[in-house]
Amino acid sequence: MRWYKHFGLDYVFLRHDCNIQQVPLSSISHFSNLDDLRRAICELNCPLRRMSKNTVISDGSPGSGIMVIGEAPGQEEDEQGKPFVGQSGQLLDNMLKAVGIKRSDVYISNVVFWRPPGNRTPSVDEIAMCMPYVERHIMLVNPKILLLLGGVAVKAVLDTSESISRIRGRKNEYKGINVVATFHPAYLLRSPGQKQVAFRDFIQLKRQLTALHF
Ligand code: URA
Repeated sequence: MRWYKHFGLDYVFLRHDCNIQQVPLSSISHFSNLDDLRRAICELNCPLRRMSKNTVISDGSPGSGIMVIGEAPGQEEDEQGKPFVGQSGQLLDNMLKAVGIKRSDVYISNVVFWRPPGNRTPSVDEIAMCMPYVERHIMLVNPKILLLLGGVAVKAVLDTSESISRIRGRKNEYKGINVVATFHPAYLLRSPGQKQVAFRDFIQLKRQLTALHF
């Protein structure tokens, strides 16, 4: 929402084919529970939606205190309608397990709700279309800690142009919520040498969780 409010806008313009869908920001902030928000996301006229099998919104436990946000669903996620169930998801599960956190003890989502064709990086327009819903999603889940996976999630949620390498390892906050930023599991699969560095971020996550008595 900040993205648009910065520009003094009260409406988001969502493109669908040649039509422009005008969505009042106030209508998004009126979603007062996750079911209503999920229904609205499923009805969004995003071009990606028409190319996907499923809308992928979330998995896990919203009351767990930890909300994980990645980039966008891949093929496996599109098939199953759940985030992080492919190879990246297995690595995420293992990294959480390494610090004593079960997958069922976190809540997982993405900054984009549909698979971009060929698993390409979501475009600025696609991210901008989903962000008001992502921001409302975070507000409704109200986690103690946000775990942001990869540069796309970090840039979109923290509204920054800084790279993940610069942001990770620092103290970050989003609207009063502690943020732990780390590399995306897909990047770690390609660059296993960075797993050590990412592991430090997961230790930090566990420390913050313990300090918050979770
Ligand atoms: N990568 C992501 O960023 N999200 C998923 O859900 C799966 C892979």
